[in-house]
This record gives sequence, structure tokens and C-alpha cells, in this order.
Amino acid sequence: MTIAHTFSPVDISSIAFWASTAVEREKTFKVLREHDPISWHPPAAGGILPVEEGDGFWAVVRHQDIRYVSNHPELFCSGRGVQMENHPAQVLEATQSFLAMDPPRHTKLRRLVSAAFTPRRLATIEQQIRDQAARIIDELLDTGDCDFVHHVSMRLPMWTICEMVGVPEDKRYLVAEAADRLVSHADPDVRGDREPIQLMGESIFALAGTALEMVQARRAEPQDDLMTSLVHAEVDGERLTDDEITAFFCLLAVAGNDTTRNTITHGVKALQDFPEQRRWLAADFEGRIGPAIEEFVRWASPVVTFRRTATRDVELAGHQIAAGEKVVMFYPSGNRDESVFDNPDTLDLGRELNPHLAFGGGGPHYCMGNMLAKRQLRALFEELLFRVPNLSVGEPQYLVSSFVHAVKRLPCTL
Ligand code: HEM
Repeated sequence: MTIAHTFSPVDISSIAFWASTAVEREKTFKVLREHDPISWHPPAAGGILPVEEGDGFWAVVRHQDIRYVSNHPELFCSGRGVQMENHPAQVLEATQSFLAMDPPRHTKLRRLVSAAFTPRRLATIEQQIRDQAARIIDELLDTGDCDFVHHVSMRLPMWTICEMVGVPEDKRYLVAEAADRLVSHADPDVRGDREPIQLMGESIFALAGTALEMVQARRAEPQDDLMTSLVHAEVDGERLTDDEITAFFCLLAVAGNDTTRNTITHGVKALQDFPEQRRWLAADFEGRIGPAIEEFVRWASPVVTFRRTATRDVELAGHQIAAGEKVVMFYPSGNRDESVFDNPDTLDLGRELNPHLAFGGGGPHYCMGNMLAKRQLRALFEELLFRVPNLSVGEPQYLVSSFVHAVKRLPCTL
């Protein structure tokens, strides 16, 4: 039975809301956390599909509720889409792979790539990540004043994920930029005069084309990389189809690039805005970088939302949610929840209790690349702190998006 809910008067659905800054948005989330922690809202504006009658979503903004939803996949599933907006089924199939699946298929597909993310496997590429971070900073020093996102932040995540998957060097910018555009369709500056669906189509075409070329190359000549593992992997006795491999590739390309890139960018800006924190970290980098990274990720909250769908009528924090209704988790809000974090609006790199939700609230979809991301952040911040001590950044240009907290450009001087 469909229940007609009353929409909250608090706007978190309009383009104007998502075009404002995270600091502005946090004022709204604070109100919701205090007064209406589970609230019903109209569908996000600017979506690709027309809005259906009765459509809307429940906003989950408190830390404890985000954890509850994340840890109860039997009540709140991913298989009916994980984004706040409705996307065409073909787009979801082509790009989301196991991110938008439920057990048992989710478990099986996730297992196929999890071997590449174990601590042992990551330890083997640790030195390469460090070398690459050093090279990026060498080139920054040669380049001089520039756009920090293009010349620094995007490069290490792009290199790392492409190296792991086995993307040829001449295709890496194409892959990183296509992955970026796939989540940028709401931004008028990125979109230009194209329709959102056109932008998505172009990105999928570029990513799928690259993936298919690699599939053919690995079938002919296996290498020691993730693409070769995928080409030869079997699930329930069957090889993955080309479409399934392509979707895997799109997921890894988006998840592995954008998130870490934006954490680096927000982190550098935060170090400038909190100079005493920068000095504190530099005074004992080895001893302090562990908790500092957790705080950079909390601070950045580079993934803004993930959605679930209620599998049955269920109560969440005293609210009745009907089967089939959308439930959207707002990670930046959970990461500023004052009942969990002391002074949540302050960057505190030594924060002792930091159970942030930036990698998700736990459960089966918890970020697979979290340890990889932390290794990259550590390598790059070490290079930046000690080799570019006078780095100064200007005003960030933020992407308009309800999905990622992204910086398009950040001018820097050395
Ligand atoms: C600071 C960096 C990163 C952040 C903040 C981040 C955040 C997230 C979040 C919030 C989720 C969804 C969790 C959920 O639904 O419960 C996720 C899933 C995922 N992340 Fe990350 N991520 C980061 C870096 C990476 C990297 C470097 C990779 C490497 C490829 C990666 C791969 C994945 C994958 C494959 C999933 C899907 C897991 C699943 O559905 O089972 N992430 N990430």
C-alpha cells in the first residue's frame, strides 16, 4: 500500500541546495539532525528520468541511523539502485556492478576483486605508490603555480587504480576524465550545452571502449593485473560476460579516482585553513599521520550520498517506512553529528575517537578501497608537507553534485 507522506519544508532536493557549499549545507543538516532526523523529501532535481507520482526519499542524517541502515541490508537493499536520483536501467547496468547488488551475487562478485585489496597485496605496491607520489611532486616543482587538482590530486589515484587494473598509460587520462564526467552531469559548467544523459553516454562509451579493448588484449595475452583476473574469473561455474567486466571496470574507475582525489584536495585546503594543525602534523609525521588521515577523510566526506530501498515495511528511529521507499544516507551529515564528534566543524588531526562514515556505515558494501586510499593519502601528504612547505592554495571551485563532494579546480602557488 502506498502511503502519502508530507514533504519536509527543509530543502535538500533542489539544484540550488547542492550548488551551495558543504559549510552551507551542513547548517541545514544540523537542523534536520536536531529536529527531524528521518524526513521525507521530494526527488532530487535535475535527475535524468521523469519524476514518478508519489516519488520521494527518506533522508537519514544521524550517525547512528546511517550505521543502522548500512548494517541491515536485508531491510535496506542496494539492488534497486544506490543513487539518490533515478537513472535509466541501462546506465546502472553498465556502470555499477556489485555496488548495486545484494547477496548472494554481491558477495560472489565482490570476492572476485577483493584479493587485489588485501593488506599483503597492497604492501607490494606501497613502494610504487610512494615513488609515484614523489614523481608527481617533482613535476609540480618543475611546473610551478598551477591548478592543484589537475597537476596533483587527480594523478596519484589515477595512476594507482590504472596500474592495478592494467590500463595502458596512454588511456589513463581518458579513463580518469570519463569516470569524473560520469558523476558530473548535474554541474552546468561541466555539462555545457549537453543533456545529462548525453554526458553520461559519452563517459560510458569511453570507459566501456577501453574496457573491451583490454578484455580482448588480456584474453590473447594474460598479464599480472586485475583485468586478467576478471577475464578468467568464474562465478557459479560461468565466466563473466563482457558487459559484466565493463561494469566492474566503470565501478573501479569511478570509485578509485574521484574519492581519493577529492580527499587530497579538501585536505590541502584544510591544512591551509588550520595552519596549527599543519605544524602539529609536520612535527611528528610518522607518529601522527594515522589518525590524521582518518580526520582528512571525515573532513572531506568525498562521497555525499548512497541510497537504499526498504525491502519491507520497517520502522527506522520511530518512523514507519514502507516497502519500496527510498532511503538516502547523507555521510557528511553523519560525519558532523555532534552526538558522536566533539567540535565536528573543527579539523582535529589528532582526534582520538573518529568513527567517521566516509567509507560507509559498515555492512557488506563498506568501501573496498579504504586501505588503498589511506596508503595514497599518506604518501602524498608526506611529499607535500616536506617538499612543498610554502604551498598556498586559492579558492576551490566546487562541483554541483548530490553524490560527490568534489573540487573541480584549486589554484595553487608554490
Ligand atoms: C578516500 C577515499 C574513498 C572514500 C571516501 C570511499 C568511500 C566509499 C563509500 C562511501 C562506499 C559505499 C559504502 C556503502 O555503501 O556502505 C564505497 C564503496 C566502494 N569503494 Fe570506496 N572510497 C574511497 C576510495 C576507494 C578506492 C581507492 C577504491 C579502489 C578501487 C574504492 C573502491 C570501492 C568499491 C569497489 C566500493 C563498492 C563496495 C561494495 O559495494 O561492496 N574506494 N567507497
